[in-house]
Amino acid sequence: MVPQINFPKHNLSISRLVYGIWRLHEDKHGFGEDRIYEKINLCLELGIDTFDHADIYGDFENEERFGKVLKKHPDLKNKIKIITKCGIQVPGAKYPTKHYNTSKEHIRYSVERSLRKLQVDSLDVVLIHRPDPLMDPTEMAEVFDSLVLEGKVKHFGVSNFTPTQFQMVQSKCKRPLFTNQVEFHLFYTEPMFDGTFDQMIESGIHPMVWSPTAGGKVFSPQTETEIKTSNKIQEIAKRLGASIDQIVYSWFLNHPAGLVPILGTNDLERIKSAAACFSYPLTRVDWFAILEVARGKEVA
Ligand SMILES: NC(=O)c1ccc[n+]([C@@H]2O[C@H](COP(=O)([O-])OP(=O)(O)OC[C@H]3O[C@@H](n4cnc5c(N)ncnc54)[C@H](OP(=O)(O)O)[C@@H]3O)[C@@H](O)[C@H]2O)c1
Repeated sequence: MVPQINFPKHNLSISRLVYGIWRLHEDKHGFGEDRIYEKINLCLELGIDTFDHADIYGDFENEERFGKVLKKHPDLKNKIKIITKCGIQVPGAKYPTKHYNTSKEHIRYSVERSLRKLQVDSLDVVLIHRPDPLMDPTEMAEVFDSLVLEGKVKHFGVSNFTPTQFQMVQSKCKRPLFTNQVEFHLFYTEPMFDGTFDQMIESGIHPMVWSPTAGGKVFSPQTETEIKTSNKIQEIAKRLGASIDQIVYSWFLNHPAGLVPILGTNDLERIKSAAACFSYPLTRVDWFAILEVARGKEVA
């Protein structure tokens, strides 16, 4: 059973593995209501009660697809926690240029649209998807505060922010930001070395990590480094009687910041397998052995 991880400053706990909705529409078994319901139910059975959305996922349609299932099965609403994101504007009929919008009008518009599409009264967490070079943290803090007071959002956070960007926004907010959701996997370990995770520990909150399997690269290695990494993981998995994915997910659990990986697989068996990663804790030596091959160098 996947445990919960507590965010003490927010009086909220989420599942230690979160299920990501980015690739929902890529599911080879389709993305009709029954299939989405099957996945939500499986996650809940395994203890995964937190779902990571964004307004833009599935060409702005995945929130709505998920919301239709919640409308049909309203009992699910009290069992799950919903995280969503806003701020990216994709080019299309409305805008010729991809851009970010973190104005108070857009954040409010996007939150209210997500509430409608997801068919819920309140969102547990809303993240600003990308750092906007034009963001005004005072204006952002103002709209965060109003939306919390109106009961539309419980907590705000950020995604893909540098430590200084995080600090800048936090300095203007009345309430603690919930998280910084960042890319982190064996082939991109920068957040451990650039202050991102240090800041989360200092702030008493947990980072969420996206693309934990490097978009599946860990399972279909191409480069020499990827092949060596995959071989090392296989060797450890064999010794521990685990599968490769279980070792990949277990690797995140050693970090003291309390990393929360977001699962991207659409495969039911792979979701089940991931949920069992807690049974295979890694020793410090195995953890460093994986880091060493993935970075292509031993620590100094
Ligand atoms: N904040 C941000 O900017 C941001 C950016 C990207 C993603 N995210 C979030 O992070 C979530 C996860 O990201 P992700 O989808 O890139 O995760 P990921 O696990 O790194 O990649 C998922 C891909 O890997 C494959 N895969 C996963 N487990 C596998 C296994 N055991 N064997 C073989 N292939 C496997 C999946 O294929 P199958 O489906 O066939 O298993 C899928 O194509 C997203 O859903 C989204 O919620 C956030």
